[in-house]
Amino acid sequence: MATDELPPFELVIFGGTGDLAMRKLLPALYQRQRAGTLAAEGRIIASAREQLDRAAFVARVEAQAAPFIPDSERDPAQWQTFLQRLDYVAISAAEPAGYQQLQQKLAAFPDRQRIFYLATAPQWFGVISEQLKAVGLNGANSRVVLEKPLGHDLASSCQINDMVGRCFNENQIFRIDHYLGKETVQNLLVLRFANRLFESLWNTEAIDHIQITAAEQIGVEARAGFYDGAGALRDMVQNHLLQLLCLVAMEPPASLDADAVRDEKLKVLRSLKPLSRDTVAANVVAGQYSAGTINGKALPGYRDEPGVKAGSQTETFVALKAEINNWRWAKVPFYLRTGKRLATRYSEIVVQFREVPHSIFAGQKLEANKLIIRLQPEEDITLQWLGKQPGTGMQVRDVALTLADAGGERVPEAYERLLSEAILGRQTLFMRRDEQEAAWSYVTPILDAWASAAHQPAMYPAGSWGPEAATRLLTRDGRDWHGIS
Ligand code: BG6
Repeated sequence: MATDELPPFELVIFGGTGDLAMRKLLPALYQRQRAGTLAAEGRIIASAREQLDRAAFVARVEAQAAPFIPDSERDPAQWQTFLQRLDYVAISAAEPAGYQQLQQKLAAFPDRQRIFYLATAPQWFGVISEQLKAVGLNGANSRVVLEKPLGHDLASSCQINDMVGRCFNENQIFRIDHYLGKETVQNLLVLRFANRLFESLWNTEAIDHIQITAAEQIGVEARAGFYDGAGALRDMVQNHLLQLLCLVAMEPPASLDADAVRDEKLKVLRSLKPLSRDTVAANVVAGQYSAGTINGKALPGYRDEPGVKAGSQTETFVALKAEINNWRWAKVPFYLRTGKRLATRYSEIVVQFREVPHSIFAGQKLEANKLIIRLQPEEDITLQWLGKQPGTGMQVRDVALTLADAGGERVPEAYERLLSEAILGRQTLFMRRDEQEAAWSYVTPILDAWASAAHQPAMYPAGSWGPEAATRLLTRDGRDWHGIS
């Protein structure tokens, strides 16, 4: 038996024929099957509006989910066992009939853990929860997983949380942010809290500033229906980037218990210096990609992508300067940046230390030390420091010290870890309501400022590093974005 075998479960995926289910959730569950951690008694029931029978759904999984499993990770026997777990129920979100059918299916195994994964648009979260409650599927052995984005601003997020909260207790609600499931993000907790070394330097005395970048090469793809109404601030900053900021900035929690960690993250979010209409323009840059070239391929601008409104003002890039009003982080800006159709795909956190107070190496530029926490495409942590160039003389050179890398082992995808945690009922890697609303409180004034002024995102060509204004956000402070390492 695998050491982390999961208990028997019934996992119901609403939006079960959608993009997320096919690209991420089902491949992740197959990987857990292959790793031997899924209990033999575990079913995956997909649900969507479409009338499909089980065979038609399985055929769809073969066609649409299987391509997301790398060839080297395909095991025909495990795949067949995985397919046998699948079932399908047609449900129209607001109509009781489908829920009754679901309830009958689940009644066969009343004691199993039930996980309802809502991979639908957020306006359905409340309705689905109410329908589940109406057929008694909100009991103590039920959990609900909510995909991001949860709403489109603070008010709508509160409304959804209220509706879901009338049906499930907070300890049954798992608000997902897949960045929290990434291997290096976990490793960041170990780096900070299992080692004495960095914690004593982790403050304004030693750190100059922090950069968090999540750069993508892909464009809006087939998601314009969602993305054009959302934009990069809601899609990436409100959740992924602010969560990374929290993990870097939080105080050591007393334990890894869900509330101990989430209490500390909440304190960080509540200590963010609020932006106002007057300060947004100076501290937040919005951009939108125009036509350009990546890897020699000519690509259309955002407004020419299928499904995007003509003249759309939706931002596909955001850079912002955040400040944390507390003793540890006073005078340490956090620069966040994310965008689509950028030159390279990579995500990393750079902790830049202060320069030496006085140099004895006359005439040589002493680069400040940097701790680089790379989330993707490869996962590693390196410390950039200065060493001596071997030989006569006293020449200084950059040295990169690798503190952690995956060591060639297969690293589980974020969704594998998060689905497993949800089945196990562990909430540490999921957002609590107050935390998520605090993140919305921080970004909502930005949305308001953009909505009210004659706001227009600055254009940047696909394949670049975003608009010039994003560079100026740092150069005006005498700093630069760290180039890809
Ligand atoms: C999702 C966003 O949450 O994260 C997408 O909705 C984005 O727009 C994706 O592409 C990026 O995730 P990752 O794991 O590839 O960095």
